[in-house]
Amino acid sequence: MKVVPSGAALGAEVQGVDLAAPLDSATVEQIKAAWDAHLVLVFRGQQMSDPDLLAFSRNFGELDPPGPNPYGVTFLPEFPEINVISNVKDAENRPIGNLGAGEAVWHADMTYIETPPKAAILHALEIPVGQGDTYFANMVAAYEDLPADLKAAIEGRSAIHDAAHNSAGMLRKGYEEISDPRQTPGAHHPLVRQDPATGRRALFLGRRPHAYVPGLEPAESDALLDRLWAHATQPKYTWAHQWRPGDLLMWQNLWILHRRDGFEETARRILHRTQIKGDEAIVA
Ligand code: SIN
Repeated sequence: MKVVPSGAALGAEVQGVDLAAPLDSATVEQIKAAWDAHLVLVFRGQQMSDPDLLAFSRNFGELDPPGPNPYGVTFLPEFPEINVISNVKDAENRPIGNLGAGEAVWHADMTYIETPPKAAILHALEIPVGQGDTYFANMVAAYEDLPADLKAAIEGRSAIHDAAHNSAGMLRKGYEEISDPRQTPGAHHPLVRQDPATGRRALFLGRRPHAYVPGLEPAESDALLDRLWAHATQPKYTWAHQWRPGDLLMWQNLWILHRRDGFEETARRILHRTQIKGDEAIVA
């Protein structure tokens, strides 16, 4: 197995492993070490069935089923732990997956619940090559560089992470539009997350739309969040992945943000995703 760092603030390609085959414990430990070091790993050319994806994912913990989507359906009833990310529609014109073909804004997955998933694993089945790049940003590095006044301004503060909309801005089934961010439904998490095991700290921002910092006036909350987001998503903290069919990406959800470019509506893009359950509520 060979690990080739991206050269950016996070991300590495892992070569020489067939993820469809059962992995021995030494290989799993090597993958975990590379994952801790680089936060996002890419494996190219993986020919995996859905059961292969589930078996590989279970090496990293208990699976966390997908959250609610705008259509109120389970995309793969046979494999309910798998989420489908796709713009494709079936013969009855029903979406076969989530997020459509538009941009998905910067976010971490499902941080609107108390104990969000700690990781996601995304396998590309069909890809319009050259479109729909996915970007990642390192929130450990962003926290380390945070200007002193911003660090002081967020000390002890939390934010509400919006549960009502997905990262494509679509309203999830069962929610309604709310114009006052103080009423945003979703978990309250500290703006700085600390790993209870290592003490490592990172910015923990979730997603910008509909976020609110309790205890501040809405305008003050917006100004603080806008400064934090402008800092955290600077190109020096990010890295972009250009997809090919067969790519498998795995990311440490609680240490990073990700976003996706839009792509042509008429193109076909289908990816299958699992998530690994988080261990504990987020602590400052
Ligand atoms: C996501 O935000 O999880 C989807 C990423 C992608 O479609 O590349």
